[in-house]
Amino acid sequence: MRVRPRRLRTTPAMRALASETRVAAAQLVLPMFVREGIREAAPIGSMPGVVQHSLDSLRRAVVEAAEAGVGGVMLFGVPEEKDAIGSGATDPDGILNVATRAVVEEVGDAIVVQTDLCLDEFTDHGHCGVLAADGSIDNDATLERYRDMGIAQAASGSHLLGLSGMMDGQVAAVRDALDANDFDRVAILGYAAKYASAFYGPFREAVDSSLVGDRRSYQLDPANRREGLREALLDIDEGADVVMVKPAGTYLDVLADVAAASTVPVWAYQVSGEYAMIEAAAANGWIDRRRSVLESLTSIARAGADVTLTYWAVEAAEWLRER
Ligand code: PBG
Repeated sequence: MRVRPRRLRTTPAMRALASETRVAAAQLVLPMFVREGIREAAPIGSMPGVVQHSLDSLRRAVVEAAEAGVGGVMLFGVPEEKDAIGSGATDPDGILNVATRAVVEEVGDAIVVQTDLCLDEFTDHGHCGVLAADGSIDNDATLERYRDMGIAQAASGSHLLGLSGMMDGQVAAVRDALDANDFDRVAILGYAAKYASAFYGPFREAVDSSLVGDRRSYQLDPANRREGLREALLDIDEGADVVMVKPAGTYLDVLADVAAASTVPVWAYQVSGEYAMIEAAAANGWIDRRRSVLESLTSIARAGADVTLTYWAVEAAEWLRER
């Protein structure tokens, strides 16, 4: 007998039957930015094709995403004013809460409406938490802000809260606040293994970030694989409905570890820098854009992601339908 693995690669039909990983539109979530005080969508230079939405353009784009079969949207707010405690995050009239109400009014539960629960877009220092007198991040004072933010987002109609701040105990704190306020049906996505990554670069422009310095005292060291799994297990223990690994493409080992051990769904976030790199190389004609995007999404799914957050969600959904 001669070993001939190539038999399963002979024709497109044979390859389709032999395919181990399929990506579907329903497994994609589109991250979206909404900016306070603008009338028309504004382009983001470092993320060609991605915009800061106005309330109106956001409504239209969410409907478009739902029609394309995308599974969910994750909303990020860009407020006009910021302060030390990120007051806009808990204000019912803050941009993210206003936008959430608008979107839910528009699409109901036809698509899962998710909100970023973190203070960094709302603080004048740009950190994900509030600061102690010595300038360090005050973990437990931040948890109090997250509890209030969770209640504000749930009251605005968010279906799933994306806890991206990397404070210790954040999942348990927000779960407790939700349950104590009759929001026990609102789900929590723990950004369990979120690394202090250079690949968030374009996102900082997208949200007009005020950050000086870095987030290494709360986000994970890119060198640490075991610690990613530890964080995911802690989030599951605290009651996370879903856990996430972020970024995706450069952390596929962590993703595979978490997928093997998790008792809840595992999501991955293909972040702004991953988007920008493929867009830039494709714009130069150095790589095939569509094939690169689909390959990157397939690889993330292959490593174990049940769902991927990607800025290409709508376009990829259309391509996947054509395939
Ligand atoms: C923090 C947050 C960040 C991203 C999502 N949520 C930035 C950060 O941690 O610095 C990055 C997403 C991306 O790069 O696409 N609220």
